[in-house]
Amino acid sequence: MIRVGYFQFRPLFGKVERNLSRALAALADVHADIVVLPELPFTGYHFAGRGEVMALAEDPARSRTVDALVRLCRHRDLYMVTGFAERKRDKAYNSALLIGPQGLVHTYRKMHLFNTEKDYFDSGDTPLSVQELRGVKIGMMVCFDWAFPEVARALALQRADILCHPANLVLGFCQRSMLTRCLENQVYAITANRHGSDLRPHGELKFTGRSQVVAPGGRLLQRAPAQRELLYVVEIDPTLARDKAITARNDLIADRRPQFYGELAR
Ligand code: ACM
Repeated sequence: MIRVGYFQFRPLFGKVERNLSRALAALADVHADIVVLPELPFTGYHFAGRGEVMALAEDPARSRTVDALVRLCRHRDLYMVTGFAERKRDKAYNSALLIGPQGLVHTYRKMHLFNTEKDYFDSGDTPLSVQELRGVKIGMMVCFDWAFPEVARALALQRADILCHPANLVLGFCQRSMLTRCLENQVYAITANRHGSDLRPHGELKFTGRSQVVAPGGRLLQRAPAQRELLYVVEIDPTLARDKAITARNDLIADRRPQFYGELAR
């Protein structure tokens, strides 16, 4: 058994210190193995342009934000998957970081940029991969990656038990769709969304909350309210994600016919 969860909250745009403090305070006493935070939880989401991203993004190798999160993970003996505005030289990525007591473990850069993100983020260039911790394999995806079932499938094919999914959702479809991702791949998924809005001179974006934990079979274990801060942790059995049978004679991985799926990889 393993304790997993998420922290849903309302970041304020551009207030990195404040947003970080909020997350650190909320998690100060948490008892969990893995906690997922939303997409871009420290900078906020609704950037005016590339210049603003470059000003607020950080290189994880030299980041006070990451250092503080590593200290928290050490203190609580915890792993965390968090969204992160990542700057690497002249590039900017909408990333997810896996952080643990030992430091930064893995970086995934969002590969399916949503809407105006295309104007100011670079497309992710990190292959989909799984990371093993405490006997569990986790796969990372970021928000709009939900709309590309290939992402969850590719992670499931690498034997991910749990999809860790930082999000800043603005459309109403993802929470439902992730039930299907968990049914067709027999995996767990933790979608950590934010609530509130980013009200900026160029417009307002409202986020839908309703973070959730879904089990294999597409079973919704828990869903947060739309507009309330919530730290939620639940104990799950990750071995349930290793049984891919959906009937006595159907295994969702072994029954695939990839020789007929050529278009998917073109
Ligand atoms: C999104 O990908 N943040 C909608």
